[in-house]
Amino acid sequence: MNPISELYESRCKDGKPTFWRPEAIPPQNICYYSDNTRLSDHNGLDMVRRIIGIGLDMEVNVGRYVISGLKKDLPDGGPHLTLLLRSNAADEARHEAGFKEANKVYGRATDRQLQQLVSAWSDEANRASNPISVAGQLEVGVFLITLGLMRIVGNSGITRLAIKIAEDEYRHVQTNHAVSTALGLWGKPNLDLIDSTLEWVFGAGLPELPGITFDKLRRYSRELLWDLNSPGFDDLTWYSFHHLPFELDNSYLYTERDYGQAN
Ligand SMILES: [Fe+2]
Ligand SMILES: [Fe+2]
Repeated sequence: MNPISELYESRCKDGKPTFWRPEAIPPQNICYYSDNTRLSDHNGLDMVRRIIGIGLDMEVNVGRYVISGLKKDLPDGGPHLTLLLRSNAADEARHEAGFKEANKVYGRATDRQLQQLVSAWSDEANRASNPISVAGQLEVGVFLITLGLMRIVGNSGITRLAIKIAEDEYRHVQTNHAVSTALGLWGKPNLDLIDSTLEWVFGAGLPELPGITFDKLRRYSRELLWDLNSPGFDDLTWYSFHHLPFELDNSYLYTERDYGQAN
């Protein structure tokens, strides 16, 4: 079976695509790595609200980019490519619904700069010879980072939402990367737009996150764009895999170095 058909089959039951349903998110402290130590708003809540704002204003747009890309030239991806792209686009409404649940509890950020970023991404999609490439670059360069940040700053409810969305996004990324590469459209992302979007999420005053700086986030975003892999970013997000302690060796215990600023 070709990889596109495999990806499509992986989300199907009895030959039809399945979709998850967002759940209500319980109100909890905003903290590092779900440790229940409440952070100041500047450190945590502000960033969470910005991520919710981006999700509410851009998730469904990404689905639109994919749907409009269906009308353009597509590579020969086998019998399931269009079905996969359509089901991927339909996921974005679930992602938005998940962020709506988060918004009910934590609120969202909105400002002129966010509106400018949303318009700039739409302009980018309109200019692209196939907007699927813009969807992919936004997902890889920005959303994979914001989903990772939701594992680091937040709580178990926010982490659970990030995990559900990330399961879809990994499939979207593989699809959109494969389509864009076949069309010769990967490798020319609008890096300035990616950086300004990440910079807005991270906030004007950098929150004091343990071990995280904006420069590092930007580097992780570049690694994901070029290699679809960032071991440094994985290291920051592994805490929230939620293995029970006795299933892991002692090297996985929190250390003063990793954890110092959270206390
Ligand atoms: Fe999404
Ligand atoms: Fe997506």
